[in-house]
Amino acid sequence: QPSQTLFDAIGGEPTFRKLVDEFYAGIATDPLLRPMYPEEDLGPAADRMTLFLMQYWGGPNTYSAQRGHPRLRMRHAPFRIGVAERDAWLRHMRRAVDRLDLPADHATALWDYLERAAYFMVNVMEDP
Ligand code: HEM
Repeated sequence: QPSQTLFDAIGGEPTFRKLVDEFYAGIATDPLLRPMYPEEDLGPAADRMTLFLMQYWGGPNTYSAQRGHPRLRMRHAPFRIGVAERDAWLRHMRRAVDRLDLPADHATALWDYLERAAYFMVNVMEDP
């Protein structure tokens, strides 16, 4: 089915939930990233991330219905995201993507987006 979205192709909501659950299991133990999350319970943050990714990949628009326009760079402005934070984030996400065991083309599409988005989210300048 050529017009199928990536959302459907990789298994819909359960797959995105699994991805984000794995990712947040990593965040929960990360000494650099965990303190950045304002809430003690990571559940609501995981839910926002899941709904955002589902929407981005062609699933239901629940994220925007609840949160409005994503404006992700603006929403990340309160957090100091340098190269170390970006790379830690990507390390957890890489592990989570790998755990899904997707066909290579889907895994690559997903990963390329996440990597680009993480580079885009860096908001502090550092000395090289
Ligand atoms: C929210 C950190 C990259 C998607 C957040 C929050 C933190 C954070 C601390 C607040 C948690 C909450 O209450 O929701 C980071 C760090 C990144 C990063 C350190 C490193 C590069 C990304 C990327 C994406 C993303 C690449 C998307 C592909 C989101 C979403 C939210 C969020 C959807 C919730 C926004 C909302 O509706 O309020 N992030 N983030 N983040 N992040 Fe990230």
